[in-house]
Amino acid sequence: MGSLKGTVLVGLIVWALMGWAAGEPEGQLQGWARAMGMSVSAFSAARGEALYRQENGNAQGGAIGCFSCHTKDPRQPGRTRAGKTIEPMASAVTPTRFTDPAKTEKWFSRNCQDVLGRACTPEEKGDFVTWLTRVKP
Ligand code: HEC
Repeated sequence: MGSLKGTVLVGLIVWALMGWAAGEPEGQLQGWARAMGMSVSAFSAARGEALYRQENGNAQGGAIGCFSCHTKDPRQPGRTRAGKTIEPMASAVTPTRFTDPAKTEKWFSRNCQDVLGRACTPEEKGDFVTWLTRVKP
């Protein structure tokens, strides 16, 4: 019985720690800062916004950017090419944004490749998330 209680207790502690690690954009910001050998405070919301608004040429001679799917206003819902709704990117509107590292990294790699033709650097990810977690509702 004692060991069962212990197991439950350890389980609860692990669950709480995982919740903390997965629940805050801060943990991801720290990881990218560490990868760049810089501090979290050196990330720039202005650079993040510029990346979001940057227009890139596509193969058809048109312009694409993060805004193509996420819209020019990150407080508004976006739309995929197939017409599916995307929740707003601003944390102030969608509190679950950037709280699941596996999801965040998956979409950064897919979308940066798609829009920029290359991976985003940890610094770009940090700038982007810094801006989107600060956009006012
Ligand atoms: C072709 C459409 C499209 C474009 C262009 C696009 N995205 Fe996305 N993005 C999506 C979809 C779809 C999702 C996943 C659905 C969701 O998160 O609601 C997503 C999610 C994300 C996420 C995950 C957010 C989280 O909650 O962790 C990040 C980060 C992201 N995009 C970054 C970017 C960046 C950076 C650019 C520009 C370089 C960009 N996206 C351009 C479609 C797009």
